Parts: sequence; structure tokens; C-alpha cells
Amino acid sequence: MKLIHTIKDLQAELQACRDNNKTVGLVPTMGSLHRGHVSLVSSSVTQNDITVVSVFVNPTQFNNINDLLTYPRSLEKDCQLLQENGVDIVFAPSDSEMYPEPDTREFDYSPLDQVMEGKHRPGHFNGVCQVVSKLFAIVQPDNAYFGEKDFQQLAIIKRMASELFPSLTIVGCPIVRETDGLALSSRNARLSAVDRKEALTISKVLFSSVEFAKSHTLQETFDFVVGGIKAKPALELEYFEMVDANNLQPVQNWTDSTNVVGCITVYCGDSVRLIDNITYNK
Ligand code: PAF
Repeated sequence: MKLIHTIKDLQAELQACRDNNKTVGLVPTMGSLHRGHVSLVSSSVTQNDITVVSVFVNPTQFNNINDLLTYPRSLEKDCQLLQENGVDIVFAPSDSEMYPEPDTREFDYSPLDQVMEGKHRPGHFNGVCQVVSKLFAIVQPDNAYFGEKDFQQLAIIKRMASELFPSLTIVGCPIVRETDGLALSSRNARLSAVDRKEALTISKVLFSSVEFAKSHTLQETFDFVVGGIKAKPALELEYFEMVDANNLQPVQNWTDSTNVVGCITVYCGDSVRLIDNITYNK
């Protein structure tokens, strides 16, 4: 496995692969890797000749400076995990390598980027699109892998790729959970043992709501989830929205959509922002 820090070196390495007609899979990450990332890597390793994993904490997608400063970083440990899982190239650029000048591009994927995370984290998806489009342009992968935990991000990246990189396939990979149900996230590392237990309520309420939904209206199911989170003083609900999986717009009744997804964001413990989602197959 090669650890590469510059675009020039990466492209030289990839040119050699392309000359040999090798397919390239890209897994963009912000490091601090866990089993969720490993599942993306495994899909890429199975489906491509070469797998590139980028490790870059992208400053332009953070609208909260504290969140950026406290974002966990562990390149050495990440590289070890990636090597064990068959990755060929790790691309870990510096901020100035990725942004030699400020990126002033604006992406508008309305209405997908206007709701949920887009509403609560202004500029976040613009930053995600900036960095991901740069990575796509640098690596020119055949396939790129993203987790379904960031459901809205996946929808927006699919839309961006279909417009700007039409020959690229975006592969969505299922949420990976701890055995007790907590969705894996790099931010889980910031939870104390007590908060970790409290955070479990998020997935528990979502799972129970799928059962509850079978005999209740959409509004009742919405209230069930919101009530379940609000009953826990250690958790602070930022939003729960039940949306159509394709256009991400809120739905009022089960008959409004054949594919309803419940997306949730909750603060737990020392301002640790956790997201999760669940599909209601009615
Ligand atoms: O999902 C993430 O980790 C990031 O948003 C991504 C896609 C790597 C872009 O920085």
C-alpha cells in the first residue's frame, strides 16, 4: 500500500494503473476509520482492480469551528487498518494541497440540499460537493463508495455525479452498526461510557418505530420517535424528519410515498452530533 500526499504523485501512480486498463474505486473519508469505512473499502476492493482511499478532514464542510477542531485524527492507525483490508493507495493531502486557493464554487442541488442537514448546517453540502468533486476530478474513479448513514449526502453526491461525472458510478453501502444497534460513526469515540449508553436510545427508538408504524399513521410514528428521544434528558433532538427517499421532501401520510425514510440528528453528551436513519417499508 502506498501513502501519497500530493495530487501530482497520486496522478502519476494512477496513470500507470490506467495504462494497464485497471479499474479504480475511490472511498472518500475524513479518517478516524471504523468498521463502517471498512465495509466501503471491502466493496471497492471486491469490485475494482485498484482501491484509493482519501483521508482528508475537509475544512469547507464544517460550519462549526469547534466541530472541525475536535474532529478525531489518526492517520497512522487508519493506514494500518487500510493496509489490512487490501487498499492499494491512501491519499492524505494537506489543506493547501486540496485548496491552494479558496474554493468559491457554489453547488445548488435544490430541493435535496435545502432540508435537514442543509437547513441545520448552512454551507455544509456546498463544502462536501467542493471536496468530493475535486477528489473525483483528481482520481477519476470508475466507482465511488459512500455510506447510507449520511443518507442526504449520498443523494446529493449521486445528483452531482450524474451532472458532472456521468460515467462514474456512485455505490451506496448499508449502515454498519454496533451489535447493540448504535450506528458506527467517527464521532462515537467522543462519547463517554455513560453517554454511549444514552446514545443507544436513538437506534432503539428508530427500530421500534418500524414496528409501531405497521399499525399507526405517519404522524403518530413521527410523534413516537420524537417523544422517545425527548424523554431522555441526556439527548437533544436537532431534527427528525420523515421524507421521501428520492426527493428528500417531508411526507405527511404513508400514501404520499412508497419509500419513506426517517432521518434523525441528535446531540448527545458533550455536544456530540450523531445522525442515523431508518427505512419504513410499508
Ligand atoms: O462522509 C464523509 O466522511 C465526508 O463528508 C466526505 C464524503 C469524505 C467528504 O469530506
